[in-house]
Amino acid sequence: MLKNLLLFTTLLLFLGGCNSQEKHKQLNGKALLEQKCSSCHNLDLPPKTFEDEVAPPMMAVAFHIVNFTKVNDESQRVSKSIDFVKDYVINPSASKSYCDKKSLESYGVMPSQKGKVTQDELDAIARYIFAHFTQENLMKEQAAMNKLKAMPKGQQLALKNNCLGCHKQTTSTVGPSFEKIRTLYKNDNSIIIKSIQNGSKGKWKEAHGVMPPFKNLTDEELHTISEWILHP
Ligand code: HEC
Ligand code: HEC
Repeated sequence: MLKNLLLFTTLLLFLGGCNSQEKHKQLNGKALLEQKCSSCHNLDLPPKTFEDEVAPPMMAVAFHIVNFTKVNDESQRVSKSIDFVKDYVINPSASKSYCDKKSLESYGVMPSQKGKVTQDELDAIARYIFAHFTQENLMKEQAAMNKLKAMPKGQQLALKNNCLGCHKQTTSTVGPSFEKIRTLYKNDNSIIIKSIQNGSKGKWKEAHGVMPPFKNLTDEELHTISEWILHP
């Protein structure tokens, strides 16, 4: 009996431990950041606009803190930065802020978020901030954006609308290759535009399946994309 009771309590302890750990794991820093902070802080990496700002973009916040936090040992940089966020969000002040004086005057000191976010939630938020808003991720994003910007407009649209998942330039995959389409329609984009808008099936024997309609494209986009297919 005693043995069973012991076993039972150990089991309870064990389960209890598991549960609280589970709870901790379930906190999604990214989602919480969006819920609790995005009304004031722009969360894009990098921000697409600096207009109508009421607070510094989160990228700037993360870079400030990581760079300005004083540490004796470099390995403490992230954990000290996390501690700063956990404190600042509850007890903000002009003297603690790393914002430069001019920005601080124009934004005003951040209102304390006490009661709106728990310490556990803040911990998850801060961990996400310093894992996501990094110099390395910024450079990756910028490289991807530059690559996209360097493409012809029609190709950008084809990429965004997932056309390239079914069409390749020279080999027919799910859909016929753009080269074959080009050879068939020469300089006439009218049928191409209709097929993109309404979808297509049964026309191409090398194709596998049907082409879905793309109703959400504007006339200008349809023109751009079809011209790109004919003249890449
Ligand atoms: C009501 C608007 C508002 C909300 C909501 C808000 N902030 Fe802020 N925050 C500001 C403003 C304004 C500043 C700039 C002034 C300052 O540093 O206090 C700021 C500054 C900060 C700073 C200090 C930046 C630095 O460079 O020193 C941190 C850290 C911060 N916010 C984190 C957060 C986090 C995390 C959340 C969500 C839990 C959040 N903020 C929610 C308005 C807000
Ligand atoms: C899910 C796969 C799929 C996607 C996504 C897709 N297509 Fe197609 N596409 C096909 C198939 C399959 C065919 C051949 C249909 C047929 O046999 O009539 C086709 C045919 C075409 C044709 C020839 C139509 C004709 O009338 O001869 C054009 C042009 C075309 N696609 C352009 C596009 C563009 C532009 C996009 C993106 C906006 C796109 N496709 C997205 C599968 C796809």
